[in-house]
Amino acid sequence: MKTRITELLGIQHPIIQGGMHYVGFAELAAAVSNAGGLGIITGLTQKTPQDLAREIQRCQRMTDRPFGVNLTFLPMITSPDYAGYIQALIDGGVKIVETAGRNPQVYLPQLRAAGVKVIHKCTSVRHARKAQDIGCDAVSVDGFECGGHPGEDDIPNMILLPRAAEELSIPFVASGGMANARSLVAALALGADGINMGTRFIATQEAPVHENVKQAILAATELDTRLVMRPLRNTERVMNNAAVERLLEKEAALGKSIKIEDIIEEVAGVYPRIMMNGDMDAGAWSCGMVAGLIHDIPTCRDLIQGIMTEAEALIRDRLIGLLD
Ligand SMILES: Cc1cc2nc3c(=O)[nH]c(=O)nc-3n(C[C@H](O)[C@H](O)[C@H](O)COP(=O)(O)O)c2cc1C
Repeated sequence: MKTRITELLGIQHPIIQGGMHYVGFAELAAAVSNAGGLGIITGLTQKTPQDLAREIQRCQRMTDRPFGVNLTFLPMITSPDYAGYIQALIDGGVKIVETAGRNPQVYLPQLRAAGVKVIHKCTSVRHARKAQDIGCDAVSVDGFECGGHPGEDDIPNMILLPRAAEELSIPFVASGGMANARSLVAALALGADGINMGTRFIATQEAPVHENVKQAILAATELDTRLVMRPLRNTERVMNNAAVERLLEKEAALGKSIKIEDIIEEVAGVYPRIMMNGDMDAGAWSCGMVAGLIHDIPTCRDLIQGIMTEAEALIRDRLIGLLD
């Protein structure tokens, strides 16, 4: 399948693996890229720019296909050395960056001068337009369903994607709630040029996370995520667990006076304990409603091949068939 996103990124299939904290290591990014999609290493999971440089080299030893690096600009207690991370990925020869959170404008001249294509992930049409106006090459439009940070507008993809199609001239991918061939065909029909998946790629053979995480996704239904940190305007969709219930009780009790310090135990530094050690109640971890559509743990190749084969059948047999 050829779309504006496969052409822009030089990939075979219009499927991207979104950056994921403590999931997006070289093993997963390489597996997705080797299967013809675009794998992405999560920049900030690497503690220093030097660590990122080593992770990029590891990925290059596992694939000769294009892969990207995610740079997330979220409110943090101490700001990471973004300039250092950007220099590391440029020096490493990475040609695609997925930015998320704050607008990446200040870093665009440096990235563009190095021939790096920028996909900015946004949760609203106004932010997508802004990304287009400042010169991003593509956007990833993240609906309310998504795992991670859906923003504060709560617009699901059924509305957000066709609104993005009305307003954008640059290519965009649908993100949030994407899992299978139906997702891809629907996203294309809604105006997107491909899909970005997070949660679905955690439940794959190559995702280098503890087996408990994959099993938790398999066991979950679409009813099992919760929104946390809304009072802090840093809303995150996470898998429900004991820590999340405790966090939500604190939010209900403290109301508008809540501060990040009140919930620090549930949100800070929990990813290594969950993703590496499989301690599933250690804290709040991002997960999409799409968990309800995930019933197996395939290889990335089988997942992507299956989506592409079934999407073709859906288009040829079901959709074109409807016209006969
Ligand atoms: C465990 C997990 C960690 C994530 N970490 C990040 C991150 O560090 N930076 C980022 O931009 N997005 C992050 N995301 C969001 C994904 O890149 C992607 O946009 C989202 O998962 C799409 O929704 P889906 O889970 O319904 O596919 C994360 C998502 C998950 C599930």
